[in-house]
Amino acid sequence: MKIIVTGGAGFIGSNFVFYERKRHPEDRIICVDSLTYAGNLETLKSVLDDPGFRFVKLDIRDREGVYKLFEEEKPDIVVNFAAESHVDRSIENPTIFLETNIIGTSVLMDACRKYGIGRYHQVSTDEVYGDLPLDRPDLFFHEDTPIHTSSPYSTSKASADLLVGAYHRTYGLPTTISRCSNNYGPYQFPEKLIPLMIANALADKPLPVYGEGLNVRDWLYVEDHCKAIDLIIRKGTVGEIYNIGGHNEMRNIDIVKLICDYLGKPYSLIEHVTDRKGHDQRYAIDPTKIHKELGWLPETKFADGIRKTIQWYLDNKEWWENIVSGEYQNYYKKMYGNREVLDGKEPEA
Ligand code: NAD
Ligand code: TYD
Repeated sequence: MKIIVTGGAGFIGSNFVFYERKRHPEDRIICVDSLTYAGNLETLKSVLDDPGFRFVKLDIRDREGVYKLFEEEKPDIVVNFAAESHVDRSIENPTIFLETNIIGTSVLMDACRKYGIGRYHQVSTDEVYGDLPLDRPDLFFHEDTPIHTSSPYSTSKASADLLVGAYHRTYGLPTTISRCSNNYGPYQFPEKLIPLMIANALADKPLPVYGEGLNVRDWLYVEDHCKAIDLIIRKGTVGEIYNIGGHNEMRNIDIVKLICDYLGKPYSLIEHVTDRKGHDQRYAIDPTKIHKELGWLPETKFADGIRKTIQWYLDNKEWWENIVSGEYQNYYKKMYGNREVLDGKEPEA
């Protein structure tokens, strides 16, 4: 089988490429990535010479280029990871999020219609459901929870999901959608909470926690996400949406303290800074459907996953130090330089 994986030079896409090459070496993977600031060819170096793998530098908004590739490769499956993925950047500049996440998705699906396809899979997010209140731990996101987005990022992802539904209903495109909770693991760009805190802690730099740090995210080890997508593209039902999450809810402040503990760094590095605009309070997935229908369950416990992840960042300093020392410095200054340090007391753990 031939599988086009878009966004395969990013965090989850690259982990998916590795998972597929290991799990299904008989399949051919064609990775499409335009290598934005978040895409890194270095990440894919272990598969670049693999005969079952091809890398194509291509923007998913480039209709002509995408059609040409489909004509050449005649893929059986397309898995679309390519996206602008960082909420804080979407607050600064929403436009590129609309272009890549919505227009790019439509170009890919048009190519699927034109050249025929066995399956188009859209990698979406639990953020399309908006957020849940902190004082209602009994509430979870189900597949039929109404879409109710907060940030330009989640709105662009929700718009893409709606478009996928429209292509399925209108043109009969064989689609599936997965909506996963927050991922962590190797190769995550150090602008996201966990790798940012690891990198800063190792450099004894302040750990910028937004507001009080009481917001809750439902963390899943990236390989468990890859395994779920692999099951959906091979065994999932066309036209369906699958939630993916491991019932592992944690407050941001507790994650940051855990990282300090692992690295032997003092909590005094923690700096409470101006909150994110429109900050979602709590995400929590109900993964019953994918468990019942496809037998998926997360395999990595958070305690093991976070240990492995921290160890990976310790063992692969060069990978992220290159990022942190480059253009990223300007981003960091721009995004964090203006945040006021709140002088309120740190909340009780
Ligand atoms: P990422 O930012 O690490 O990687 C995105 C990749 O897409 C990069 O390699 C980038 O170069 C590429 N890309 C961006 N615009 C492109 C374009 N126009 N054409 C071709 N390639 C382009 O993102 P990630 O964290 O790996 O997320 C991957 C997908 O999973 C996204 O669709 C995201 O919405 C979704 N998701 C992420 C999480 C999470 O916790 N990170 C959770 C649920 C869902
Ligand atoms: P992030 O990793 O950006 O993922 P998302 O916003 O998609 O959930 O952020 C995770 C949580 O961590 C979120 O509640 C915002 C918070 N956060 C901080 O407190 N400080 C930071 O520097 C960053 C990047 C995030």
